[in-house]
Amino acid sequence: MIIAVDGPTASGKGTISKRLAAHFDLPFLDTGMLYRAVGWTVKQQGGNPDDENDAVKGCVFDDGLLDDAALRSEGIGSYASKVSVHPSVRTALDKRQRDFANQAKGAVLDGRDIGTVIAPNADAKLFVIASPEARAVRRFEEMISRGEDVNFDDVLADILKRDDRDQNRATAPLKPAEDADLLDTTELTIDAAVQQAIALVNAKLSRRRDKDPA
Ligand code: DC
Repeated sequence: MIIAVDGPTASGKGTISKRLAAHFDLPFLDTGMLYRAVGWTVKQQGGNPDDENDAVKGCVFDDGLLDDAALRSEGIGSYASKVSVHPSVRTALDKRQRDFANQAKGAVLDGRDIGTVIAPNADAKLFVIASPEARAVRRFEEMISRGEDVNFDDVLADILKRDDRDQNRATAPLKPAEDADLLDTTELTIDAAVQQAIALVNAKLSRRRDKDPA
């Protein structure tokens, strides 16, 4: 079974995906970390993330980097969003994600183009959204709790900028697959959002079983 979870930054898709993976006992891949590793590597190399030649040089990195908490910063999120615009970067990361999705045990993947590009045949697809303001509040509180000195308006502006870049790029933009179920977490606690996600996946699986009983 493959579960594809897509959505914008701070929509709750990461937590929902991890909890879905635990619930259905499936391996989990946060594909944003791959783009973050590229962004981080480009930064370390002094490259320009907007330049495709520089960006693609960041696609060779040590897997140990994927566990580095430094990749989770907002600054690296913005580098990741910039490098992810380039088709050659997306191609370089494509096989790894498809192989993960198609492993025998099944998988949960979260990202921006999982339901549309990486796993178009996924058994269940969720598109997780929340209002920009609700996402900015979550991100702001997370950053404050890490002791960062941030301003709410800057956090909201960064979120809007990242949404715009991720949704409007030419290659594999952030958008719901035609057969995705929408989950709006604006007014939901994380537990309520997870319960709704599980219910949506179960409903999709039973609809598929009714259509194809074999
Ligand atoms: O999910 P995240 O915030 O860690 O992702 C960081 C950036 O990486 C995001 O703004 C766009 C890019 N990304 C992508 O283009 N495709 C994916 N499947 C995952 C992330």
